Formats: sequence, C-alpha cells, structure tokens
Amino acid sequence: MSVPSHQKALFLEAKQGQWAVRTTEVRKPGSGDIVVKVEAAALGGVEWKIQAWGILIKDYPAILGMDGAGTVVELGEGVTTFAVGDRVMFQGNWDILTGTIYGTFLQYFTAPAQFVAKIPDSISFEAASTMPTGVATATLSVYNQADYALSAKYFAPWLPGGRGKYAGKPIVILGGPTSHGQYATQFAHLSGFSPIITTASLHNADLLKSFGATHVLDRKLPAEEIRARVSEIAGGPVGLVYDTVSVSATFPLAVALAAPGSTVLTVQWAPEELVAQAMKDGKAVHMVLGFYNAPVNREIGATLLASLPELLESGDIKPNHWEVLAGGLGGIVGGLERMKNDQVSGVKLVARPHETV
Ligand SMILES: NC(=O)c1ccc[n+]([C@@H]2O[C@H](COP(=O)([O-])OP(=O)(O)OC[C@H]3O[C@@H](n4cnc5c(N)ncnc54)[C@H](OP(=O)(O)O)[C@@H]3O)[C@@H](O)[C@H]2O)c1
Repeated sequence: MSVPSHQKALFLEAKQGQWAVRTTEVRKPGSGDIVVKVEAAALGGVEWKIQAWGILIKDYPAILGMDGAGTVVELGEGVTTFAVGDRVMFQGNWDILTGTIYGTFLQYFTAPAQFVAKIPDSISFEAASTMPTGVATATLSVYNQADYALSAKYFAPWLPGGRGKYAGKPIVILGGPTSHGQYATQFAHLSGFSPIITTASLHNADLLKSFGATHVLDRKLPAEEIRARVSEIAGGPVGLVYDTVSVSATFPLAVALAAPGSTVLTVQWAPEELVAQAMKDGKAVHMVLGFYNAPVNREIGATLLASLPELLESGDIKPNHWEVLAGGLGGIVGGLERMKNDQVSGVKLVARPHETV
C-alpha cells in the first residue's frame, strides 16, 4: 500500500485559538511503530474543553483526538505483531506531563504498535473508534494491581479467573451514558458486580440495562434522594464509586456514596478539601488515568489490548452507539460545539477523515 507524503489534519492553532484543516506531513514510522490510514476518528469529552478553557495542552499548533480506527499501511522496523492490511484501533498519543499531543484528527496516524489492538471483521471502523480511550478510562484505574498504581486494584475480568469474581458486591457508576461509563458498566457486569447502580437521563436507561446495569436512577434527582435510593438498593456499603462525569454536581455525591475503606474514582481532579475530608473518613479518591502509554498502565494495558478482539467477537463488550459527522475532519468542529452545549446523549460522534472536503 502506498503512503502519501502529506495528509490533511485538523489543527487547533493556538491556546484557545481557531480550528483549521490544513496539510501536514505524514510521520515516518520509527522502530516499533506502525502507520495507519485513519478510517474513523471519534470525538471525546475533553477536546472542546481544551479549546474553550485553554487547559492541558501546552504545545501548539496541536492535532487533538484521542480515538481512531483504520487499516495498517506501513510497518516500522521490528514490528512483527501487525501486518499491512490489518484492521486496528488506537489511542491518540498524549503526554500529560509535557502537555504535548499527537492525536487522531488526521488521515494517517503513526503509533507505537504496542498500544494498538486488532479489530474483528464483524466490527466497523466507526464502532471500533469509540473504544480505545473509553475502555482504557473505564478499566485501567479499576483493575490495575501494580503496587504503585493509584487504582481500586480489583482483579480484571479479562484475565483467567476474573469473570464473576465480585458477585454480590455493589458498584455505583455516576453517569452511565458517558462513553467510558458505558464501558465501565459492561466491565462491571463481566466482573460480576451486583447491583450495578448508575445515574443517567432516563431515556438512556434501556441502553444501560442492556450493558448490565441493574438500576438506573434519574441523574436529575436531588443528591439526597439518590443517596437514599442507593442505600436501599445496595443494602450495605458500596466499595467502588466511579464518577464518570466529575463536575461540581457529582463530586460530593460520589464521596458521600462511598463507604469507609472504599474507593472513589473520578475523571477530573476533585476539589482538594473534599479529597482531604474523604481521606480522613477512610475513603481513597483517585483520578483515573485512561492512557495505555502511561508507564504504570503498560502491563495491565497490554493484557487488555490483547483481549479486546475476543471480547468484541464474543459480544461480551459492545461498542458505543455512534453517529457519523458530515464533512470529514471539518465536521469535528460542529460536533465539539454540540458536545459543549450538552446536545449529545448516549452516542459517540465519529468523523471519517478521508471524507474531508
Ligand atoms: N481522566 C481520564 O483519563 C479521562 C479519560 C477520558 C475522559 N475523561 C473525562 O471524562 C468525562 C466524560 O467524557 P466522555 O467523552 O466519556 O463523555 P461525554 O460524552 O462528555 O458524556 C456525556 C454524557 O454525560 C452524562 N452526564 C452529564 N452530566 C451528568 C451528571 N451530572 N450526572 C450524570 N451523567 C451526566 C450525560 O448523560 P445523559 O445524556 O444520560 O444525561 C451525557 O450523555 C470528560 O470530562 C472527559 O474529559 C477523563
């Protein structure tokens, strides 16, 4: 397969700056890398925040995008685990320490092969592109048992002996319809957690129940009422509360729902005073690190990436529902605006970079 020297990419030109689709070089693969023709790139909840709030990324112009899927078109030196023509999914390459990102909002992505997973033929590129970050976020900080991991340290359901291991143990997932909330619900189901209690707008209740949620509470209920309902349903202490939304409305609720000795996982930094009080009460609060390339996640991440094709083929894990944006890379800007305005519910927005006009 021939690989062009140049491609189109969507750039965020400066901190809180303009978006622009323009031409850039296709990166040559280094040792251990593969080059993928990106057939689908999925939007995440963080990209509009980076643009609107000027957070997290320091190095501009930047190509954002944390999720993609496509076909392998070139192999770097020493790559033996993939072949040209393989269908794969992959995560954008973001270094949170330096604030640099090389994302998936482009036509050809060059990635270290070690952080890439194969896609079964039965799964479309669009469906697969909803997965890499959602699955990483939903699992790595729940199931990473490395000594130094800030994780809930449960045993992963994709490892031998992991299925059903936590039968009868309650879990609360605030925000089941987020991309990673949908995956967290499914992995909790594979782990055997029960009941699996989640919050959502109720039009998403059937979707979440199809993933294994046993109870879906209206997220607009007063926090006190959610607490009372959870206590009644769980009938005992909740050992793991996963706040997939992590905003001012959900942080205190997440901590209040957790029992002493339990873990609260958040996806954004919780306020310091809340974390300090939770620690005094014997509750651990950790922020999820949903990156396969983070050194602490590499070992558990490798086992997960290797298991994903089978989990998908068996139907044990189902991709998010998705909606294709018109206009290829140019359509991403309008998609992010819809996400910012809270106009996307229960679906992942996906662009096809080669449809860019
Ligand atoms: N730390 C990490 O490594 C990491 C990784 C990935 C993402 N994140 C963060 O995770 C967050 C979610 O990202 P995402 O892309 O998966 O999701 P998303 O698409 O931004 O989530 C949208 C969904 O959130 C639900 N929601 C909004 N407010 C809620 C509330 N108060 N209570 C319960 N549900 C609520 C809505 O559900 P309904 O439609 O049912 O109302 C909506 O469908 C973002 O802030 C993102 O930056 C962090």
